[in-house]
Amino acid sequence: MRDTGKETEPDRLVQDDVEHVWHHLFQHSAIASKEPMIMAEGQGLRLRDIRGREYLDATSGGVWCVNVGYGRASIAEAVCEQLKKLPYYAATAGNIPYARFAAKLAALMPGLNRVYLSNSGSEANEKAYKMVRAIGHMKHGGKKKTVLYRHRDYHGTTIGALSSTGQQERREWFGPFAPGFAEIPHASCYRCAFGKTYPGCDIDCARAMETVIQREGPDEVGAVIFEPITAGGGVIPPVREYYDVIREICGRYGLLLIMDEVVCGMGRTGKWFGYMHYDAKPDIVTMAKGVASAYMPISVTATTENVFAQFLHDPGDKLAYFRDISTFGGCAAACTAALESTRIIEDENLLENCRLMGERLLDGLKGMLDIPHVGDVRGRGLLCGIELVEDKKTRQPVSEAHVLKVVGDIAAQGVLVGRTNRSLPGHNNIINLAPALVATKDDIDTILGAVKNALLKTAS
Ligand SMILES: Cc1ncc(COP(=O)(O)O)c(C=O)c1O
Repeated sequence: MRDTGKETEPDRLVQDDVEHVWHHLFQHSAIASKEPMIMAEGQGLRLRDIRGREYLDATSGGVWCVNVGYGRASIAEAVCEQLKKLPYYAATAGNIPYARFAAKLAALMPGLNRVYLSNSGSEANEKAYKMVRAIGHMKHGGKKKTVLYRHRDYHGTTIGALSSTGQQERREWFGPFAPGFAEIPHASCYRCAFGKTYPGCDIDCARAMETVIQREGPDEVGAVIFEPITAGGGVIPPVREYYDVIREICGRYGLLLIMDEVVCGMGRTGKWFGYMHYDAKPDIVTMAKGVASAYMPISVTATTENVFAQFLHDPGDKLAYFRDISTFGGCAAACTAALESTRIIEDENLLENCRLMGERLLDGLKGMLDIPHVGDVRGRGLLCGIELVEDKKTRQPVSEAHVLKVVGDIAAQGVLVGRTNRSLPGHNNIINLAPALVATKDDIDTILGAVKNALLKTAS
């Protein structure tokens, strides 16, 4: 890795950071006792901070974004060329990379044909909600505007997205929330809300959606949003039949199915999109983090032609189109970065690598199930979680201090992993692993070794 020059003055940088940076999701009083980690550069899965410490990043940039790994000169060069040609023109018109990227995505997502771009996962979900509400106004006499969401799923930080987030600790103190959202049960088998065991459960967690529709009024409910696999809420892949039940209920009640692929999308789970592991047929798909592997900010709200067609009306009607704009949505260079990141995933066969390395990771974690406190391990592709419990019979979650100790021990071995962070009260007990899709066998084995050492250390 290159010496950036700035690294010669780490003390100054730490001081600037401590005095001026407001870190995300972070208790700043903790900095008094611990210096912030300031990253300087990366290559593949390797990161180096300003103190010269090196890490193997099993989080793809902390929050599961850098799917093709660090140090991709081809993305930087493509972005640079595009910026020299044309940095920007509002998406009320078009630009060349936007058109190319939209066509590329449409080819990857059979049935979804229209691509609306914005800048963050939250914003992409807000667009989806606005589409549902506008369709309710235009086509259902002002009804069918309520959106259902699932307990433990996260959909973002803006007020609408937070109003549809099933994680109490993310919501606390930020109310009042937007009306028009209602919660359905989570899909965790390990903590089945119905006290049942798969496969003898009749997938009650999915069927419970109908009860909520009846309670809210079938005329009022217009859509349901899911993370295909709950990510930040504990890495929870629903059972195979889950979305069959959901799809059938959506069909019967005329609900639009929205898949939030902000984490799972663009290869993270070994297929292009998480919903492709199931027989789900979404009407709207949102994505963000891995779209350009975070080399540039970009997010997507993709829809079927049918959803798009709801907005086609007599041009004389001043309201009946999607009256929404996102100033930076569709920035030319962000689309260029997305195109190049997508090309890399295809040309380097990273979906297959993700699937194979994901199996290696999950198998390795399953081999740790006999270590004290390891209650459950779950995952799909390179998105895995380890649920830690005090007692394997009662499944009482370990304390957050325990989780922090394990994560700290892993970091002390030079490997960065994540954890459920302010999700459900008492349930921030899951360690998350999401290395870049370029991970090698050696990378996976290094991650597994560090995790195992730390789990054994805290076993007693
Ligand atoms: C599933 C999911 N949806 C939406 C979001 C919000 O994305 P952003 O932080 O880009 O607004 C996140 C962020 O973590 C997420 O995990």
